[in-house]
Amino acid sequence: MPEAPTQRNPLRDPLDQRLPRVAGPCGLVLFGVTGDLSRKKVMPAIYDLANRGLLPPGFALVGFARRDWADEDFAKIVHDSVREHCRTPFREEIWDQLAQGIRFVAGDLDDPDAYERLKTVVDDLDAHRGTGGNHAFYLSIPPGLFPVVLSHLKTSGLAESTDGSWRRVVIEKPFGHDLESAVELNRVVGEVFESGSVFRIDHYLGKETVQNILAVRFANAMFEPLWNSNYVDNVQITMAEDIGIGGRAGYYDGIGAARDVIQNHLLQLLALTAMEEPLSFSADDVRAEKVKVLSAVRLPRDLELHTSRGQYAEGWQGGIHVPGYLQEEGINPGSTTETYAAIRLDVDNRRWAGVPFYLRTGKRLGRRVTEVAVVFKRAPHLPFESTSVEELSNNAFVFRIQPEEGITVKFGSKVPNTSSIEVRDVTMDFQYGDSFVDTSPEAYERLILDVLLGDPPLFPRHQEVELGWKILDPILDFWAGQGEPEQYVSGGWGPHSAYDMLARDGRVWRRP
Ligand code: BG6
Repeated sequence: MPEAPTQRNPLRDPLDQRLPRVAGPCGLVLFGVTGDLSRKKVMPAIYDLANRGLLPPGFALVGFARRDWADEDFAKIVHDSVREHCRTPFREEIWDQLAQGIRFVAGDLDDPDAYERLKTVVDDLDAHRGTGGNHAFYLSIPPGLFPVVLSHLKTSGLAESTDGSWRRVVIEKPFGHDLESAVELNRVVGEVFESGSVFRIDHYLGKETVQNILAVRFANAMFEPLWNSNYVDNVQITMAEDIGIGGRAGYYDGIGAARDVIQNHLLQLLALTAMEEPLSFSADDVRAEKVKVLSAVRLPRDLELHTSRGQYAEGWQGGIHVPGYLQEEGINPGSTTETYAAIRLDVDNRRWAGVPFYLRTGKRLGRRVTEVAVVFKRAPHLPFESTSVEELSNNAFVFRIQPEEGITVKFGSKVPNTSSIEVRDVTMDFQYGDSFVDTSPEAYERLILDVLLGDPPLFPRHQEVELGWKILDPILDFWAGQGEPEQYVSGGWGPHSAYDMLARDGRVWRRP
């Protein structure tokens, strides 16, 4: 379907972005209410938004699942997940207000009658709770089930908006498992919702620190002049996790690290770090630049030398002995799914010619950290004795995405009290907590609010998703022919082949 023009929210004064953005009358229908994501992220985020006064008083949350539940049973599930996971303090009066708008529809995803019942509930909310015909359908379900739900939303008339009201759909990754399936998924979604009403969640884009990449790059004069191949030696994007796959065997096995997070989160980080300045921060302008830079990404010629994949073996983490991937519950003991992936990409344009972008991610690594490190070339000449600068490495500018959110600049400085000049690495840190009183909202708070406001800049469009697969597919095909991935010890920093991959280029991974 053709793309609708970006909608503006009349409640938001375009001249003063500091005013809180409050969603107008609306409701959210949640499919997949028993899943981890719904309970740990979506439900608490809805409460946190209500607590911050950002939801309309008549907001409604409708759960849909194949459970024999009444409204109160579902409300209890929401209550418990909110109590356990909410970010802001729990307040009874906020909860009571929210609970009044909670409904549940019991039914099979493939049962047309269930959608009729859902429609009755939605119509009733419009008539009696003032949701104004505005509803978002949040598909927190495996993507294989999207087509059936979407077709029922269409035939039941639930996807149709009338008289200036809106209907939107929210989908979670994985958006397909390769280019072909992603194109098909986009086609299926596009048959029911026009593209301006489709909100694809990549929760990394909802993180404050990720949004800060563009703010820092384009609001300041002192970084951008250095942000190119004249000064930058390489860029390292790391998303390391200390956890294993936990209870997610069913989702993860067969998907692996590259599909799970490189195709989406890490390529988005690459796009934000490497893209040109957008004409404005509107969704269309930002996307245009992201699409341009992702289209310029080139794979290395020899995938064997410039990619690495691994699978965690047993080991020790935080003093606890942890099992290897193949011993995890629900994992096929012969699985070749990678839990670690590292790849080198190049960006073929004037700004980045010759600057490798190294992307790596893994489970059960030394600690949880996500960062984008722009590593600079060495100074062209060092007028010191070689022993004086032995401990000096490359300057680096690091966006610390999590957990210690902020920015670190690494540079050389004179060691005090030395007779000859001795220079060593030092760091200068910006911590969010030191400069701003507000704590950062959870990514899901921001993204759900944006869905309800119809604000699209933080949601990848289908071109970005398809470009992600175009980049990754040849690597996945190559790995599929490679047999078993290399084992790496839990609690370490990944397989040897990942170190070799950088060593061949004369570089080393940063130790986060
Ligand atoms: C999800 C992946 O997208 O991101 C998970 O599916 C991963 O495997 C998670 O654990 C990490 O998110 P965060 O926000 O904790 O970095």
